Amino acid sequence: MPGAREPIAIISDVHANLEALAAVIDDIRGRNIKTIYNLGDTVGYGPDPDACIDLADAACAITLCGNHDYAVLFDAEGFNLVARKSIDYHRAVLKPEADNHDQEASRRWAWLANLEPMHEDDGFEIMHGSPRQPITEYVLPSDPETDPAKLADIFSAMSQPLAFVGHTHFPGILEDGNDAFLMVSSLGGHYRPEPSRRAIVNVGSVGQPRDRNPKSCYAVYDGENVFYHRVAYDLEKTVKKILAIRDIHPASGLRLREGR
Ligand SMILES: [Fe+2]
Repeated sequence: MPGAREPIAIISDVHANLEALAAVIDDIRGRNIKTIYNLGDTVGYGPDPDACIDLADAACAITLCGNHDYAVLFDAEGFNLVARKSIDYHRAVLKPEADNHDQEASRRWAWLANLEPMHEDDGFEIMHGSPRQPITEYVLPSDPETDPAKLADIFSAMSQPLAFVGHTHFPGILEDGNDAFLMVSSLGGHYRPEPSRRAIVNVGSVGQPRDRNPKSCYAVYDGENVFYHRVAYDLEKTVKKILAIRDIHPASGLRLREGR
């Protein structure tokens, strides 16, 4: 089923999980897909923020700013204790000392500081959160039921018919005028957007899935179809690394086993 454009892989929410990111990039390359867009939250929660920045920088044509990237740069205001702990730790790991001329640290910090909040492409747009607030706002599966006015406003903020987001770590699709959140499992991993109907596609999370499936999740878009893929990785290695770092809350590791 060839699409209208060369396929691109869209990943999100790596969360400093190097084993997951490396496995997903291998999977993408195995499909001969050359372009990767990363919707942000490259850091936060996991054990390897520096290595994940380096790998994302090398592998992704575009990387956007997520709320954790922003919080590492500035402040973890509004974050819960588990998230805040790793953000503060990542800031300590990544932020160059004023009197230290560590070029690698300076390069990574500048990379984080220069991440854009969104990107418009041919027929679609990408951001971490929502078309209305690209870094911080959640587009939730429950929004059609609990806050239809919010969702209507978000759809009206779209400048393209299709938006790809991350942030919730929960893959699936919301269509304008459709009250149902489309679960990836019910779609068989394939979604074909209608050109005349706006849709927001959540690509799930590479480094911390929360849909009770511990495998990494990402999507491929070929201009006509969205295909979801799940990738197994050595998550016990990641969990072990997290549990060995006192400044990361153990829950950031243990949750990976259950995909929550
Ligand atoms: Fe995230």
